[in-house]
Amino acid sequence: MKTQNWSQMWLGYHQISKDNKSWKVICNDFSKEDRVVKSAIGEFATGIKGYFDADITENDGDVYVLEIAKDASIAKEGYFVKGEKSGITLKASDENGVIYGVFAILRKLGARVSVEDICEEAAPSNPLRMMNHWDNMDGSIERGYSGESFFFENDEMYINERTVDYARFMASVGINGIVINNVNVKGAATYLITDRFFDKVKELQDVFADYGIKLYLSINFAAPIELGGLEVCDPLDEGVIAWWQAKSKEVFEKLPGFGGYLVKADSEGRPGPFTYGRTQADGANMLADAVAPYGGIIIWRCFVYNCTQDWRDYKTDRARAGYDYFKDFDGEYHDNVILQIKNGPMDFQIREPISPLLGGLTKTNQLLEVQIAQEYTGHQIDLCYLMPMFKEVLDFRTYCSEKNDTVADIVSGRTMGNKLAGMAAVINTGNDFNWTGNDLAAANLYGFGRLAYNTELGADEIAREWVALTFDMDKASEDKLVDMLMRSRDIYEKYTSPLGIGWMVTPHVHYGPSVDGYEYSRWGTYHRADHKGIGVDRSDKGTGYAQQYYEPNASAYNNPEKCPEELLLFFHHIPYTWKLKSGQTLIQYIYDSHFEGEEGAEKLAADWDSLKDAVDPEVFARVAERFELQVANAKEWRDQVNSYFYRKSDIADEKGRKIY
Ligand code: GCU
Repeated sequence: MKTQNWSQMWLGYHQISKDNKSWKVICNDFSKEDRVVKSAIGEFATGIKGYFDADITENDGDVYVLEIAKDASIAKEGYFVKGEKSGITLKASDENGVIYGVFAILRKLGARVSVEDICEEAAPSNPLRMMNHWDNMDGSIERGYSGESFFFENDEMYINERTVDYARFMASVGINGIVINNVNVKGAATYLITDRFFDKVKELQDVFADYGIKLYLSINFAAPIELGGLEVCDPLDEGVIAWWQAKSKEVFEKLPGFGGYLVKADSEGRPGPFTYGRTQADGANMLADAVAPYGGIIIWRCFVYNCTQDWRDYKTDRARAGYDYFKDFDGEYHDNVILQIKNGPMDFQIREPISPLLGGLTKTNQLLEVQIAQEYTGHQIDLCYLMPMFKEVLDFRTYCSEKNDTVADIVSGRTMGNKLAGMAAVINTGNDFNWTGNDLAAANLYGFGRLAYNTELGADEIAREWVALTFDMDKASEDKLVDMLMRSRDIYEKYTSPLGIGWMVTPHVHYGPSVDGYEYSRWGTYHRADHKGIGVDRSDKGTGYAQQYYEPNASAYNNPEKCPEELLLFFHHIPYTWKLKSGQTLIQYIYDSHFEGEEGAEKLAADWDSLKDAVDPEVFARVAERFELQVANAKEWRDQVNSYFYRKSDIADEKGRKIY
C-alpha cells in the first residue's frame, strides 16, 4: 500500500505471515523514553506490523517478549541478538547498539529466519560511517542522478516525513554521520553556519539524533572573508583564527551535538591555505583547534590537485598530487583532524589503483572516501553494483606495517590504534520516488552502509540481503538478481575504458564515451594513445607515481610484466601488440572486452525482462527503461572505443567482426 510519495526501499517489511501474536517490549537499564531507543521500538513496531500484522502490547499472556538489556561488555555501537521460543533478547552497551540490534532482528525476520533461530553478534568495523551529500541549496545536486535535493530548495531547508524516513534508512544500515551540503560551498550554503539557518539545521540535527546520527556541515574556507568581512582567510592570520574560534563557539552553542566541518580546500577553484603560501596541515589544524573545545572534528579532503595543469608536460601527474601535498605533514595533523582520501588517486573511475596515501600516512587519522553516486560508473542508469570494487579497496595490502596493513585495517583504526577513522560515501539519493533513480542503485546505498559497519561482509552476501528485503520474490528470481548485481561491475568496466586507464567519458558530464575527452584544457588526453600504444608511464622512468607505494607494491607496479593486468595502462604506456597473460594482444583485448561488455549489458537487460512476473510492475518498468538506455550506451562505447583504436593502430580485429 502506497501512502507516501516515496518508496520504502528495503524497509518495506513485506508480509511474511499472519502470525499476529503481540510483542511486549521490556527495557532493562535503557530508558524507553531515550530518543534513540524510542525510535528503535517504533521501528520494531512498524516491522512486526508489516511482517506479521502484529502489535506491541503492554499485556502479558500469550505474547512474545523483546527484552532490551544493557551489557557493558558489548563493543560501542555493537549488539547481540538471540531468539528463543518466547521471544528475543537484545543486548547492547549504548543506544546506537539498541537501534542497530533492532534493525538486525528485522533484517533476519525479513530473510524469513524464525524468532527462535535469530542469533547475531556484531560490532562496527569503523567508528565513523558517513554519508556525504553534494546537495546545493538551490535544490540541485552535484553529480545527482535521482532528482533534486530533499533537504534544500530555493535556498531554504525542508524537514518533513521524508527526512525522517531518510534517517531511518541510514540508521538501518549503521550510518552515524551525515554531511548535508556539497563540498563545493557557494552562495547560501556559506550561511548554514549563521543565524539565518541555525534553527533549521538544529531541527534536522534533531531528526538525525533520534536515529543516532550526527550532523556535519561542509564549510567554505573563505568564510572569514565572505561572512566576517575580513580581508583574508589565511589560516595563520590572528584575525582569521579568532574569527573561526568565535564562529565555532557560536555553531556548537546553537547546535549542541554537532559533529564538525568537512572541508574541500585548494581544489577545483575552492579557496584554501595555498593562496597564502600555507600548507594543508596549517589549514586543517587551525580549524581543528577552533572546534576542539566542543569535541568537534575537522574532516579535511585530500582531493587537492592543480586542475589547470597542462598535460603536455609529461612530468606533472595528477595521480601524484594527493600524496605529494599531504605525506610530508604526516604526524603534524592534530588529533581531531581526519583526512578524507578518495579510494583512488584520480577520481572515482571504474578501475584505479588504491590511493598510496592510504597507509602512506602512518601517523594521521584517515577516512576512506568512495562514491556511490555513479558519476563515472553509469549515472544510475547503467547497473553497476559497487560492493565488489569496495571490497577490493578494503582488502588491499598497503604494506605500511607488518600486520594490520590492509585499507580496512587502516580506516578502522586497527593499524594505528586510533579512534578517529572510518568510511564515507558520496551519496546517490535524491527526491525521486525511489530515492536512487534506478531502483537497483539502492543496492549501493544499502551496501555501503552495511559494508562500512562490517567490512567482513561479502559483496554477494550484502546483495542477497538487499534483494531479500527489497523484493518479495521467489528464490530463483532472487538468485538471478543477485547474480546480475555481482556481474554488473565487470560488464561496465568491459565496455568502457580498458585496463585502468579510466576516463574516455564526455567531459564534465561523465556519461557516454568521448575517447579523447579531456577536461580543463584543449590539450592532452587522459590516455596518451598514439599509433603505437596507449597508457601513462607512471614508473620510475615516467612520472614516478609507482614509487609512492611501499614494496612490494612499488616494484610490481613499476614493471609492466608484474603489474596487475587490470591496471596495466594506468601504470605503463603499452604497445598494441603487447601480449597479455591470456595470449591476446592488447589491441585484441580492447576489441574483445568491448564486444563482451556490450553483450553483457544485453544479457543483463534480458535477465531483467525474465523477472517481469517477479517484481512490482512499476519497478519493473522503471528499471527496464534504464536497461534499454544502458544497452544503447554500451553499444556506443563499444563502437567508439573500438573504431578509435582500430584507426589509431591500423590493426584489424582477428575475429573479423565489424568495427563501426
Ligand atoms: C569530481 C567531480 C566534482 C566534485 C569533485 C570533488 O571532480 O566531478 O563534481 O566536486 O570530484 O570530489 O570534490
